[in-house]
Amino acid sequence: MTSLLVPDKAGKLGDIVLGFDNVSGYQSPEYQKSGPYFGALIGRYGNRIAKGQFTLEGKTYTLAKNNGPNHLHGGLKGFDKVIWQAEPGSSAAGQTLKLTYQSKDGEEGYPGNLTVTVVYTLTQDDALQIDYSATTDKATPVNLTNHSYFNLSAGQRPDVLAHQVTLPADRYTVVDADLIPTGELRAVKGTAFDFTTAHAIGERIAQVPGGYDHNWVLNAATEGQHPAATVYEPTSGRTMQVSTTEPGVQFYTGNFLDGSLTGKGGRVYGKHAGFCLETQHFPDSPNQPKFPSTTLQPGQTLRSTTTYQFGVRK
Ligand code: BGC
Repeated sequence: MTSLLVPDKAGKLGDIVLGFDNVSGYQSPEYQKSGPYFGALIGRYGNRIAKGQFTLEGKTYTLAKNNGPNHLHGGLKGFDKVIWQAEPGSSAAGQTLKLTYQSKDGEEGYPGNLTVTVVYTLTQDDALQIDYSATTDKATPVNLTNHSYFNLSAGQRPDVLAHQVTLPADRYTVVDADLIPTGELRAVKGTAFDFTTAHAIGERIAQVPGGYDHNWVLNAATEGQHPAATVYEPTSGRTMQVSTTEPGVQFYTGNFLDGSLTGKGGRVYGKHAGFCLETQHFPDSPNQPKFPSTTLQPGQTLRSTTTYQFGVRK
């Protein structure tokens, strides 16, 4: 997703995602080196798998390691770097783009031929809906997400620290120094992770070394779509409400952006220039038996939906 135009409180359209004016921005050595995954469709596995290894049905699999000792966002050539079949269309809900990709058995170390279909819909009522589905011929972990960086000020502000965020989550997954979950689900109450009521991103970010880069455990993680986040940007009045069928959301505040990338309209992307809300299963689930399972079995169809609803507050 390279551009997303959304009206502000005066009805003026602005581009609220980070990215580049053309494809060469995504192919530059600086971009490849820093690997921010602007607007990317992430797979096979969103976030990290510890040591790039897991055991499934008695067999140990070794994945590509592309984040220190760990596997991140699908590996060296994840779904963000492959060519998808793209088919524009429309449905009752709105304009659609259907993306299809066949991931071969053994790709980046994963078992099974995986067929993935992702439909992006721009709805009549100012929402972006993403519907993911996948099937496999061998048991395999799958965790698909979208890695768009939002800045609802649409370039009016260089960072997202004034955005007010609510996350309906009483707990988050505690991580070690390499951002691998320890298995503990810790209460957010009384900490800088408590977004059960609205807080500006910048209000307590200094208490979190590096910034937010954690998975929140959504309270209403039941069947069907439930709220994942609400965001309000005071300058523009823009709001975004995220709902999902997924049990978690990675709230990442662009901590690794360092000004080395210049994006659309000559904007320099410094630290916290955008934030991601990656709806997902929890990081490293293949090695965490107590986390909701990410295993897709042959004969099953994975289905996952996330909706980003836009609006304004006057
Ligand atoms: C991860 C970060 C990582 C970033 C890559 C996020 O989803 O949680 O740790 O650096 O993606 O841009």
